[in-house]
Amino acid sequence: MNENIVWHNTSVSKQQRAEQKQQKPCILWFTGLSGSGKSTVANAVEQKLFDAGCHSYLLDGDNIRHGINKGLTFSDEDRVENIRRIGEISKLFVDSGLIVLTAFISPFQADRQLVRELVGDAEFLEVFIDTPIEVCEQRDPKGLYQKARKGEIKHFTGIDSPYEAPENPEIVVKTAELNIEQCAEHVVSYLKEHGYLK
Ligand code: PPS
Repeated sequence: MNENIVWHNTSVSKQQRAEQKQQKPCILWFTGLSGSGKSTVANAVEQKLFDAGCHSYLLDGDNIRHGINKGLTFSDEDRVENIRRIGEISKLFVDSGLIVLTAFISPFQADRQLVRELVGDAEFLEVFIDTPIEVCEQRDPKGLYQKARKGEIKHFTGIDSPYEAPENPEIVVKTAELNIEQCAEHVVSYLKEHGYLK
């Protein structure tokens, strides 16, 4: 770090922003295979938060890769950089007092752990979208598993690129067993029970 660059504290604190919003800011970090339902569940949760008057923001893998992370590939190295940047951006949104929802495969345990350490345990809620790969492959909403099986996409998560499932996630969502409404309600209940919604 350049020694001539100095950190400035802002006059309005994170806590003050959060108190004004009547919610406890945090990151709901959705992780799971492609086609597991991360975006669908995250969107349903955000809709419920919005309806309850909460202020949130959703960062979604495909969208972010069209903008700030345009140009990053699916090599291990670029996936690490993808998640590092999302972690830093999420931290800024948490500082602004929001409930942040992120929907990225984020296949590596170490990268998710780095984001957890960036904001602290109380502000990082890992949401494991625990959908078996057979179900994801059957859904195949974008036809990507089919392409990966034919070798037309390389380094596809779960096929020829690893996915490290969370060991101790705060929330587990089984999309093969519950409908979207039930999945979203399960996440919102956790937030209520643990004091994130006032
Ligand atoms: S990662 O691993 O966290 O950096 O991935 P992410 O930024 O979430 O992007 C995942 C979406 O990119 C599409 N896609 C691929 N996924 C996995 N592996 C490969 N090789 C790949 N190529 C393209 C795919 O549509 C993912 O979207 P979701 O919503 O997860 O299905």
